Amino acid sequence: MQISIQRFDPDKDTVPYMKSYEINRKAISGVMLLDLLEYIKCHLDETLAIRRSCGGGVCGSDGMNVNGKNGLACQTQLASLPDKVTIYPMPGMPVIRDLVVDMSQFYEHFESVEPYLQSSHASKDDVKEHIQSEEDRAKLDGLYECIMCGCCTSACPSSWWNPDKFVGPQGLLTAARFINDSRDDQTKKRLDNLSDKYRLYRCRGVFNCTNVCPKGLNPTAAIAGIRQAQSEEGT
Ligand code: FES
Repeated sequence: MQISIQRFDPDKDTVPYMKSYEINRKAISGVMLLDLLEYIKCHLDETLAIRRSCGGGVCGSDGMNVNGKNGLACQTQLASLPDKVTIYPMPGMPVIRDLVVDMSQFYEHFESVEPYLQSSHASKDDVKEHIQSEEDRAKLDGLYECIMCGCCTSACPSSWWNPDKFVGPQGLLTAARFINDSRDDQTKKRLDNLSDKYRLYRCRGVFNCTNVCPKGLNPTAAIAGIRQAQSEEGT
């Protein structure tokens, strides 16, 4: 099979370029695209820069654009790929080198939604459990599983056009995770924090985020839920 990868080394290159590798599928000792990339790095071209850590769809570090769609290399089966594969770094994020992108702004948006439980009743010495009913706990399903790979935000046109202003699908999914948590009592503050024509309302319902999420989550629905909560709250 032929793998074409966008390469860019800021120390040598002025513009990115594509480099192709001919690979015998039988030579790969693994079944995932990440195995193939590691084969290239070990046997054909040690200069290829990629990110990876867990190799099992947990750390979220190997997001990339494969034949036009964002996904995790460690969760992409080689058998699902055609004989010609084109790989780019995740779009909409500055390239550091080859398939490694700068996710600083992505993390800034994540941080801006205060992604931690806030309860005015609990002191820091409070070691009691925060009891939650099964029904309330179920409201977090589909929200807490995000691994922050960035595939959704990188696929979102609104994030491309307003990268500094629109919180993006990942940040908003995280915001919904805390807005929906019965143990958190800062809901109004959280909704006010997003009451802005860019931060939340730049989502145009394109569904790219939902289409590419490797965990099968639905940020578009989470964003709609925040808008609904805002209208009920009157913010
Ligand atoms: Fe950790 Fe793919 S290497 S999610």
